[in-house]
Amino acid sequence: MRHLISILELERRGVSALLDTAERFRDGEVPRLSGVIGLLFLAASTRTRVGFEVAAYRLGLNVAALVQTKSDSGMSASESLLDTIRVVSGYVDALCVRCSNDEIGAVALAAAHCPVVNCGMGHAEHPTQALADLFTIRTLRGGIDGARVAIIGDLAHMRAAHSLLLALALFDDVDVCCIAPPQLGMPAKYARLFVARGHTLKSSDKLDPRAFDFVYVAGFPARAHDDDYSPAIRQRFAITYEVAARLPVGTAVLCPLPRIDEIDPSVDELPVAQYFLQSDLALWTRMAVLECIHSQGRSAQPKG
Ligand code: CP
Repeated sequence: MRHLISILELERRGVSALLDTAERFRDGEVPRLSGVIGLLFLAASTRTRVGFEVAAYRLGLNVAALVQTKSDSGMSASESLLDTIRVVSGYVDALCVRCSNDEIGAVALAAAHCPVVNCGMGHAEHPTQALADLFTIRTLRGGIDGARVAIIGDLAHMRAAHSLLLALALFDDVDVCCIAPPQLGMPAKYARLFVARGHTLKSSDKLDPRAFDFVYVAGFPARAHDDDYSPAIRQRFAITYEVAARLPVGTAVLCPLPRIDEIDPSVDELPVAQYFLQSDLALWTRMAVLECIHSQGRSAQPKG
């Protein structure tokens, strides 16, 4: 694995190997690496940015972080994004990138110069989140084959939902139901890839609480003035205390976070609430990704 831009770059064996590595790291078997990881966060992030920074430090890697946008004063405003990315990619051993839809093309060009890890790019994909999601499913359930997963929210735009669907497609007998308002369903290109692996993809506009091992709350973006996100729609797909309390024992509610109103804070006290475990486990999967990219190696000598 030179890059991790899409989960489609991985097969089941590769995903399982990464999760095995994450498990070893969690159990204290952490190697000491050397090198420099670049964090290029051109769009807002808390978990992924801090998670990759801490993951790098725990592996002994140094971090060079650029976490600003062109509208901030810390980045050369007169330089094109393409030039900025080209320069930064020449200094580091790998680049972890978060960006908007408009910036994806420029980031793809960086991949010609150094390994790139997609840390959430526009509405497209968020593969390292999917690895954290699978690690959580495996940790809670003992395996991923046969898991019954509901994915809820704005599935048209939430990149974590796309990567999770593609990642689940690598496993056997998974039962996935996409639960979304009709206008915000799973894009056909991701649904087709899931089905092409021999799975059937169900869809619904309401949650049947008895039918799933995992209720994955992909959520809604914070866009207060858009009809697609009216309070009534958000409320209809929210996990309230009453909804969570009806879930059978053993069901887990997962969420990539952040949440706005998708899961009521009162749910946190219920045994179904596993989203903070999920964010804790994400650290080990991020370390596994960095270790894997590092082990593929590239010259640490300055280029040019
Ligand atoms: N889950 C996730 O990507 O969170 P951040 O936006 O805070 O990185």
